[in-house]
Amino acid sequence: MTNQINKNIVVGISGGIAAYKSAELVRGLIKAGTNVRVCMTAAAMQFITPLTFQALSGNPVHSDLLDTDAEAGMGHIELARWADMILIAPASADFMARLSIGMANDLLSTLCLASTAPIHLAPAMNRVMWDNPATQHNLHILLQRGIKTHGPASGEQACGEIGAGRMLEPSELVHQSLTALACMDKPQFLQGKHVLLTAGPTREAIDPVRYITNRSSGKMGYSIAIAARDLGATVTIISGPVSLAPPQGVEVIKVESAEEMHTATLRAAKNADIFIATAAVSDFATKEIFTKKIKKSGEHLHLQLKQNADILADVSHQSDDLFTVGFAAETHNLMEYARSKLDRKKLDLIVANPVGEGKGFDQDTNQLEIIWHDGHLSLPEKDKQLLAYELMDIIVERYNSHFG
Ligand code: CTP
Repeated sequence: MTNQINKNIVVGISGGIAAYKSAELVRGLIKAGTNVRVCMTAAAMQFITPLTFQALSGNPVHSDLLDTDAEAGMGHIELARWADMILIAPASADFMARLSIGMANDLLSTLCLASTAPIHLAPAMNRVMWDNPATQHNLHILLQRGIKTHGPASGEQACGEIGAGRMLEPSELVHQSLTALACMDKPQFLQGKHVLLTAGPTREAIDPVRYITNRSSGKMGYSIAIAARDLGATVTIISGPVSLAPPQGVEVIKVESAEEMHTATLRAAKNADIFIATAAVSDFATKEIFTKKIKKSGEHLHLQLKQNADILADVSHQSDDLFTVGFAAETHNLMEYARSKLDRKKLDLIVANPVGEGKGFDQDTNQLEIIWHDGHLSLPEKDKQLLAYELMDIIVERYNSHFG
């Protein structure tokens, strides 16, 4: 992955067992091209050594507010000014409490008070501590102050209990941090415009318990929706079944089958300015949906399939005022197939990406070829959210040259 994002992140580590995951977080942020400096509380250093973070970040670790040597290097005020973002992961219950009342009794809390950079927290603690009204009250104060939180996730905890309180996985935190950094200072090019997307797979029922589907996770579509929202657009996703949370400020209309997606999309397209079809729509559905569970009766089972309507082609033929963008996920002959879909489906632009052999579906990264009638651009492999921002910039440029 190429270094793309020249932003400064202070990663703050407070005391909790999840601190061991922060090593991977720092590594991931550096790999994504950000500049990282680490600040640890005294409790954090009981769980993991500063040396680990010094080696990973390539910079001395900041931990002591009253250390004259450290202050002579990069002092805490300088560090507070250097940061484009402060990401505290893990954020313990104690740290959240101190932050909520504006304490400055160690370097990390002082840094938060002294910086104008956005503060992001990845809470991590025992589920009872998380649910405690005191923590929830502190959380409420922090959210009202504009501090962003990521997680916590639910699941098995280090203490053996099960519930909400686990720190989000490092890869997810890297992804969400990059999203936050990339959308800083974005001009609102799509103010007043409506962007409609399809995303995720479809499910074609066979009987009450079985269905035909595919490997699409919906990540690319949801990332593009976030990028469109951050450019000021009103955004609607017609979404097949995915395990992604609806992005804040984006309308998500949930559907299951290709037929449901077709109906919902054609209706919503009437009010849209840009349509982006990222869904992996099943090309076929069963001719008949069995009302009872199919029982085994011999070695073979023959299912009759019928072809689904092409949502993208139908939308693009329905309206000339709509800027239509298709996707072409291909295992081979990428450019050739993509160009033929561009013409066949009467599109303004097509985004081709290689799939198979660990690429594309259900991955956090992607690589795109963007093709329009008299041009072509390649975006090399990187995080899907970063790609989504770059793709949306190109879509806006093409949209403006088309209708401008
Ligand atoms: N698409 C759609 N409705 C369908 C099939 C595809 O809207 N029933 C859209 C996809 O969301 C994507 C584009 O069409 O934007 C290309 O999808 P793809 O499955 O690659 O193309 P197909 O038309 O199915 O062509 P082929 O099966 O020959 O690859």
